[in-house]
Amino acid sequence: MSRFWKPGSEKPSTLLVDDEEGGVVFLSSSTSSASSSGFGYASLERQRQRLPVYRYRKAILYLVERHATTIVVGETGSGKSTQIPQYLKEAGWADGGRLIGCTQPRRLAVQTVASRVAEEAGVKLGEEVGYTIRFEDQTNPGITMIKFLTDGVLIREMMEDPLLTKYRRRNSLLGSSDDMPDPEPAILSVEGKGYTVEIHYVEEPVSDYLQAAVNTVLLIHEKEPPGDILVFLTGQDDIDTAVKLLNEEIQHLGRHYFDLLILPLYSGLPRTDQDLIFTPTSKGKRKVVISTNIAETSLTLEGVVYVVDSGFSKQKCYNPVSDIESLVVAPISKASARQRAGRAGRVRPGKCFRLYTEEYYLNEMQAEGIPEMQRSNLVSCVIQLKALGIDNILGFDWPASPSPEAMIRALEVLYSLGILDEDAKLTVPIGFQVAEIPLVLWYQGSPAMVTMSSQLIHVEFSKSWFVEDIISRPYSCMIKDPMISKMLLSANDFGCSDEILTIASFLSVQSVWVSVRGVKKEFDEAKLRFAAAEKKVIDIRGQLLRLMKGFGIPLKSCEGDMKAVRKAIIAGSFANACHLEEYSQNGMYKTTRTSQEVYIHPSSVLFRVNPKWVVYQSLVSTDKHYMRNVIAIEPSWLTEAAPHFYQYRTPNPALS
Ligand code: CDP
Repeated sequence: MSRFWKPGSEKPSTLLVDDEEGGVVFLSSSTSSASSSGFGYASLERQRQRLPVYRYRKAILYLVERHATTIVVGETGSGKSTQIPQYLKEAGWADGGRLIGCTQPRRLAVQTVASRVAEEAGVKLGEEVGYTIRFEDQTNPGITMIKFLTDGVLIREMMEDPLLTKYRRRNSLLGSSDDMPDPEPAILSVEGKGYTVEIHYVEEPVSDYLQAAVNTVLLIHEKEPPGDILVFLTGQDDIDTAVKLLNEEIQHLGRHYFDLLILPLYSGLPRTDQDLIFTPTSKGKRKVVISTNIAETSLTLEGVVYVVDSGFSKQKCYNPVSDIESLVVAPISKASARQRAGRAGRVRPGKCFRLYTEEYYLNEMQAEGIPEMQRSNLVSCVIQLKALGIDNILGFDWPASPSPEAMIRALEVLYSLGILDEDAKLTVPIGFQVAEIPLVLWYQGSPAMVTMSSQLIHVEFSKSWFVEDIISRPYSCMIKDPMISKMLLSANDFGCSDEILTIASFLSVQSVWVSVRGVKKEFDEAKLRFAAAEKKVIDIRGQLLRLMKGFGIPLKSCEGDMKAVRKAIIAGSFANACHLEEYSQNGMYKTTRTSQEVYIHPSSVLFRVNPKWVVYQSLVSTDKHYMRNVIAIEPSWLTEAAPHFYQYRTPNPALS
């Protein structure tokens, strides 16, 4: 190991004091954690009492009673998410039919924390302790007292009920001035209990971090005493490759390595795989969890003693000039590196192996990451603020101000979709309806994957090459998409709400896609996953249908008139129009909005067909910008759908 690694000079203590995202609890927590310890299985009650927040129980309850807002700052895994809601419940805050809500940044975190708290409280998940994520509600009105939810779900609840009355108990206090809580927030810092973490760096830069990560895991297993290993890679594609490489190496190296249990971890992981991650490692085994940055702050894995840090993560990045939002693999910041290392010191002193040099860490790594707000398309954020009644978004007190270009882009798109009016207010009814539709679009920049879903296409849609194109998308990240919502709301004008509803539902699930490159076992597993996703599509479709009915939009099929379907799609996606460069030999298109070079993705049925004009649903960026979910259009449909947008934007004769 010493040939490859050298210990770093960073003081271990610096790893343990800061919580990168400043955990904020009581209706909001930026971190959460998971699973029972693999080291001596103390009773659940004992485990609860060992957590750092336990010593602050009285102080927390006192501050919550006295202050309108209490902020608790503490390291990831110190017990903020799992314990504080229980303390509040035990102190009577959920009496009288009120709810204690606790938000988490990710869906997976919501699910795992809720099931942990249900287990600690000895109740069935979905009863006293429940959770709500988009399209899945595991609560029981009148019975649930502690509810975990994503930030997104809470924001949607605020739209219907701005005062969040089902969570409030303060109302009863307002009558008496003695009991009025202090409006100044209280801030309480919970001291962590982390152990020291020894940092090791590579001596020379590595050219292939995946292979380096695999080698490092094997070296740790060879040289280091028991303890689980957590490897930080970037995304599902990386992780799947590393899992495969490691399993191959294990087979090759033989018996001593059979103790390694290799597990992937990323959002969208099927439930059974999630459970494996959080099951304590059995004696004689060593768990190797290969994860995205979800294990950095959103989940805590208890038995981890060794961390392998690739130095990269997949990050959203947005270019307001080209209006392209993409997921790119980028170097992490020092703050992330410290947080990753800290994951090794939760149960006893640990080690972190950084797959980059100390010099790089000290001299080149950015101190902090760029806030997500400054790396995102602002469209859905603007809608949400508007729907909450915050109209002056330019004067809004942003935690990190977005760029004026990004803001202008967002306003422009929303105006052109008819979601905002000339005074930048939500339109009635379209704007308010769009704000209410919980639609998101999955997208990611991974290698092409091929679908096996033709069966479903024929069951659900019966025809249509367009749908096949939609189906051939791989998974992974999501953006809120008012364009899809607008398409849904416009479908009735084209007599195809039935078809569009199905298309929109498909765009909301993540995992119907499988690779046919897999061997038989993988193929069978994939089929199972697909079956689950199919059920989910039907479920989402049902929910969207109820929403549409609520808006008074009837369900109507256009009976195979694909022109109508395409026109309805354009009603939402006209801004994503592209035309084929006339003399292009290689299928190059240019976007009408920003003249960006884009190409039809090879997995699309329109790849090589290259229609003259197309509209896409999403872009993925790898070596080039690729359009996914593409349909062929007539340019005149663009001016029909959005005359204001196209008249001033594109003085292209083809459009006049
Ligand atoms: O919110 P915070 O990051 O401060 O911590 P938490 O989510 O409340 O987690 C506190 C502890 O609960 C973790 O350190 C784990 O030991 C345990 N936990 C668990 O074992 N399984 C879960 N699914 C969640 C938490």
